[in-house]
Amino acid sequence: MRIHSTLIALAGLGVAASAQAEGPDFEKEIWPFVKNSCVKCHQPEHKDERGRTRRPKGDLVVTNKEALMKGGEDGEVIVAGKPEDSPFLQMALLPLDHDDHMPPEGKADQWTDEQKKLMEAWIKAGADFGAWERDPEVDVQGE
Ligand code: HEC
Repeated sequence: MRIHSTLIALAGLGVAASAQAEGPDFEKEIWPFVKNSCVKCHQPEHKDERGRTRRPKGDLVVTNKEALMKGGEDGEVIVAGKPEDSPFLQMALLPLDHDDHMPPEGKADQWTDEQKKLMEAWIKAGADFGAWERDPEVDVQGE
């Protein structure tokens, strides 16, 4: 009986340890703050409430996995395993008053230090989206 419960406890630890090695969970831990800070300017081309066409800034769409991994007008923005080569993180790490800082000063919520660390850990662990493909709430084309 005693041995049995020890084995169960160890199995539990194993699961926790491997989840850690895989990095943060995209849908639960990363997407909410990306959605909050970046979607406003980086969603698919659509018409706003006044009928004006809004194009994604820098040609970068972040509302689905395929577009996010494709990148923007300057190419890839996330390089799996290489946070230092990933503009998606690096531009958020620039000083707030730098022209290329994301999100632009005063235009959306800045990522907290904790969120920057989560993004770094997620890219480093391989930029794994899990089952997440897109957010249907904001990944909308057209009107
Ligand atoms: C208020 C609008 C706005 C918000 C919010 C915003 N961006 Fe941007 N983003 C821009 C503009 C404008 C450009 C194009 C800059 C240029 O071409 O000089 C851009 C370009 C980029 C690029 C470069 C794309 C390329 O290939 O050239 C990245 C990466 C980026 N943004 C990441 C982010 C991230 C990450 C967030 C959220 C933390 C974010 N942006 C939030 C306006 C915004």
